[in-house]
Amino acid sequence: MTRIVYVNGRYRQYRDAFVHAEDRGFQFGDAVYEVCEIYNGGLVDQARHMERLTRSLGELGIRPPMGPAALRQVMRETVRRNRVVNGLLYLQVTRGVAPRDFAMPPHGTPSTLICLARRGDPARFADQAQHGIAVITVPDIRWGRCDIKTTMLLPAVLAKDTARKAGAKEAWLVDRDGFVTEGSASNAWIVTADGRLVTRGLGHQLLPGVTRRTVIDILAHEGLVLEERAFTPEEAKCAREAFITSATNTVMPVISIDGTAIGNGAPGSIALHLRTIFHSIASVTK
Ligand code: PDD
Repeated sequence: MTRIVYVNGRYRQYRDAFVHAEDRGFQFGDAVYEVCEIYNGGLVDQARHMERLTRSLGELGIRPPMGPAALRQVMRETVRRNRVVNGLLYLQVTRGVAPRDFAMPPHGTPSTLICLARRGDPARFADQAQHGIAVITVPDIRWGRCDIKTTMLLPAVLAKDTARKAGAKEAWLVDRDGFVTEGSASNAWIVTADGRLVTRGLGHQLLPGVTRRTVIDILAHEGLVLEERAFTPEEAKCAREAFITSATNTVMPVISIDGTAIGNGAPGSIALHLRTIFHSIASVTK
């Protein structure tokens, strides 16, 4: 349960944590966000999340709400005030409040910043990883700049809902050429028969996942071979293993895609190994 939410300079009780009705994040999805894992009271890969936030803001020309040191302080304080040891930190920056107009608001309009932290349930995730998750594929109907982490998440929300209704935990989005771009809220990976790890190369079609980046560092460490390229659902269904990466899941094995069992239908050993060593390689900032 979140107790305290940072909103534009104040730490508010959850029930009083409001933004304005004419906030551009609310009206246009004119906002960017980050989700960081909180592990043992520290923020996982905070520097990378902040780098991506800076990039997202820059690509959209949204004013940074404050400098990096002050932002790090808000993040730390939000974790502390919510007494979260393991869980998630959510941070959103919008282009601010202005009378509704598609045109940009006047230069100097202050951006909105909110930050909250929530406790997670590591035991539940550990249990899920032991069983693995089911994935379905759906068409990728998103826009042309999925590399920017914006709050315009309706296609992802609909994809996740389709997955849930099909008894799956995640949806893999398939582009017009028939290749998997990523998950609705995660990056998608497969392991080939000869043990190479495949994930799509970066570009405007997918989010440069922080967890994806850290897993790539781990591969080098573990002597595993990376292949950054697109793959189809058909190739994925014949893969030795499949998994997803995200701040919310770290590394989560996928055991079926569209009802087809992956490998022997149990979580793959490489995915489970990466999951086990993830936090010893990722940076954790207190
Ligand atoms: N989502 N791709 C998409 C579309 C995502 O929304 C996410 C994360 C990722 C993985 O990125 P990272 O490893 O940096 O978490 C990939 C977050 C967790 C969310 O929206 O809740």
